[in-house]
Amino acid sequence: MSAAYRTDGCGTLDVARAGAAVTLSGFVGRLRDHGGLIFIDLRDRSGLVQVVVDPSDTPEAHAAAGALRVESVVRVTGTVVERSAETVNPRLATGRIEVRCEALDVLAAADPLPFQLDDENVDEALRIRHRALDLRRPEMTERLRVRSLVTRTMRRFLEERGFWDLETPVLTKSTPEGARDFLVPARLEPGAFYALPQSPQLFKQLYMMAGLERYYQIARCFRDEAQRADRQLEFTQLDVEMAFVEREDVLALTEELYCEIWREVKGVELARPFPRLPYDEAVRRYGSDKPDLRYGLEIADVTEAVAGSGFAVFARAVASGGRVRALACPGAATLTRRELDDLQAFAREWGGQGLAYLLFEDSGDVRSPIAKFLTGEELDGIRAATGAGPGSAVFLAADTEAVVVRVLGALRPHLAARFSLVDPGRDAMAFVVDFPLFAWNEDERRWEAEHHMFTAPRREHEDLLETDPGAVLSESYDFVVNGHEVASGSLRIHRADLQQRVFDTVGFSAEDAEERFGFLLRALRLGAPPHGGIAPGLDRTVMLLCGTDNIRDVIAFPKIAGGLDPLTGAPGAVDPGQLRDLGLELRAPARGGAGAT
Ligand code: AMO
Ligand code: AMP
Repeated sequence: MSAAYRTDGCGTLDVARAGAAVTLSGFVGRLRDHGGLIFIDLRDRSGLVQVVVDPSDTPEAHAAAGALRVESVVRVTGTVVERSAETVNPRLATGRIEVRCEALDVLAAADPLPFQLDDENVDEALRIRHRALDLRRPEMTERLRVRSLVTRTMRRFLEERGFWDLETPVLTKSTPEGARDFLVPARLEPGAFYALPQSPQLFKQLYMMAGLERYYQIARCFRDEAQRADRQLEFTQLDVEMAFVEREDVLALTEELYCEIWREVKGVELARPFPRLPYDEAVRRYGSDKPDLRYGLEIADVTEAVAGSGFAVFARAVASGGRVRALACPGAATLTRRELDDLQAFAREWGGQGLAYLLFEDSGDVRSPIAKFLTGEELDGIRAATGAGPGSAVFLAADTEAVVVRVLGALRPHLAARFSLVDPGRDAMAFVVDFPLFAWNEDERRWEAEHHMFTAPRREHEDLLETDPGAVLSESYDFVVNGHEVASGSLRIHRADLQQRVFDTVGFSAEDAEERFGFLLRALRLGAPPHGGIAPGLDRTVMLLCGTDNIRDVIAFPKIAGGLDPLTGAPGAVDPGQLRDLGLELRAPARGGAGAT
């Protein structure tokens, strides 16, 4: 900060500085001309202060202020004065003072704006196209401040515990996270390609094999997959790996780290320990492997209670080996017919055939189109299993287990939002553990790794690798916050023979494995310490801390739908000479990309 531009930050001034001569520089926010007096909201990164330009103090500054356009950059010299009681603005941190302007220099005049900063209905592509303007919105500036505070906290926390910040290559070979790779043509090897890393996974394992014991990196990862609210093509992980550890060491470290982050950013003390929830229990009780634990709405199995039911839908599902599961939602007995119909449609969207319901009225009566098919005993069984009290509704789904889980798993957050069951002041963290090592890929009719191929099976399940892969549990874990998967990790395979057996199970021949991951296998054969790690998503972490619902809101320069960047116009066409150098030829004319200029 040069005294030529500023003696103070706009947002740091208060009555203690009354009478002081100050120099401030920043952007011109709102401008009001009150018949003679001109008021300028002057804003810099620290906040905002009101500047008063009185023609009787300084006619030159008043003339300059009269010609100003908002968002121009100015320097103001003046005196801090305490406001009179009736002009104090309690909504503003600096609202008890203002700055009487003595000189005003326009450092850079702004053109008319493409949008107003306080307009909430601006198209996102337009906002990103003019991101330097958009990021001036205090809300955006605050999110970037939080982002920086989070990475600083992560670095400090890990450095204090002996982790080394080490880089890994960006031009590399395909990494094993299972999404589509971004490829970079290699000019010096025409026809060959580098892949951008989907994560630093194999390199961090190599660091462990090199004996470095504790590594971290705030790493950019690239995955060519459909973008969603919590997924970008490029995103950032806090990548962590440790040698000579067991699962609990990694979970405890993650738990302490997130307690520290929440303390630093939100000033709150998270309840410890975070629950460790086995995967199958999470799916059974919450219909999800990333359950939102800020509310109950637990799913109960009522299959046995309704096995012989007169309601054909239930009886049929049970007879064909399916399940009937239910959840009770407090306060939902008041739902209208129309809303209940909408819930049927909701269940169908998630692949169910319908959604039966029982409304338990305050009077004790049960209202439901299916009540007449159920015996008193069956109703009691459902009520007992779901804990439904007066005023609540019970929703029931009957189908294969997978469909029931999917429908009720989707219904939970839907009902929580409808009945405002989420306390916005509280965050619920949990670890989900004991995932299966493999998932069956029905299309390709083969087993594939549930996390990635370098994840260790539970030692006591190693014998099942060849005989019953579906029963093998892994040493992987997810860290879940408010229903979002924030981090994933695992203990890794550290023996070449075990690694080959896992490759065999997923149908990877020794030659395939050698071709794709030979560099890792060579290292494994030279002695690898037992190791494991985790990778929290930075974007998702900051999104949750800032209370937004899209990671784009916490990424300075994000991509929008279709992977387009409205700011730079990427992806863009390249000139024919560049293609020639790369030995590439386009079969179709290049498309225009985001079309920005
Ligand atoms: P995984 O693929 O589960 O694990 O990713 C770890 C975490 O990274 C974040 N994440 C994303 N964030 C934004 N956009 C995306 N497209 C995206 N994809 C993933 C999530 C996720 O939990 N190498 C392993 C980690 C390990 O085993 O140590 C890995 O990358 O927050
Ligand atoms: P129906 O006999 O098809 O008129 O259905 C009667 C009620 O049962 C409706 O509320 C349906 O939504 C519901 N229902 C139908 N199929 C299922 C199912 N598989 N699971 C739960 N409820 C269902």
